[in-house]
Amino acid sequence: MRIVVIGSTGLIGKAVVHALGTKHDLVLIGHRTGGAHTVDIESADSITRLFQVIGNADALICAAGQAKFAPLDYLTDEDFHLGLRNKLMGQVNLVRLGHPFLADGGSFTLTGGLLAQKPMPGSAAISLVNAALEGFVRAAALELSRGIRINIVRPAWVSESLEKMGMDPADGTPASKVALAYVRSVNGSMTGAIIEP
Ligand SMILES: NC(=O)c1ccc[n+]([C@@H]2O[C@H](COP(=O)([O-])OP(=O)(O)OC[C@H]3O[C@@H](n4cnc5c(N)ncnc54)[C@H](OP(=O)(O)O)[C@@H]3O)[C@@H](O)[C@H]2O)c1
Repeated sequence: MRIVVIGSTGLIGKAVVHALGTKHDLVLIGHRTGGAHTVDIESADSITRLFQVIGNADALICAAGQAKFAPLDYLTDEDFHLGLRNKLMGQVNLVRLGHPFLADGGSFTLTGGLLAQKPMPGSAAISLVNAALEGFVRAAALELSRGIRINIVRPAWVSESLEKMGMDPADGTPASKVALAYVRSVNGSMTGAIIEP
């Protein structure tokens, strides 16, 4: 399969690339640097240009998307807008603009997060975006044509991220295990699914 991986230089993206192995034709996409190509998912023009350059694919995985973690009282309009235009509309636009470039029976796999379902203090802007993405995926699955599937991975905290923040990595899921959820989405037959690693 020809599989496009957006966010391939990130923690989860790198683990996904590793888990997909060598039997696929992987098109690795970075943001600022890295990957065979770069894209800014905040920009519809950038996404359009990317698809024009890379052409058709069998699957697209997005392991990118920013949103702000901060107490509700401190979240500004701009903090909310970051999540809306980056993690939410960035991934929605990958589907809207990428759909024509996906082969019949292809798949999209997006990234949400457990904070959609299990919020914590500081997660309001992220929980909002993750929950919206889950709604989008459930609905889009009903309409995507040509047998194209769409799923979303709902990772809990990743162990390596917790470690970086000085917290106990045992409370999270290793990136290598999170990555297997993306592989299941690509190889499976499910659509509209929320996949918990
Ligand atoms: N890590 C966790 O504990 C965790 C838990 C639940 C959910 N998630 C979600 O999983 C996703 C990936 O997390 P991560 O920890 O792997 O993040 P990460 O290590 O920061 O990697 C993010 C990746 O996305 C790229 N990227 C950033 N902004 C972009 C943009 N505007 N357009 C295109 N690509 C962009 C980055 O490239 P550059 O470095 O060049 O900017 C990088 O390749 C995020 O949506 C996050 O919310 C993460």
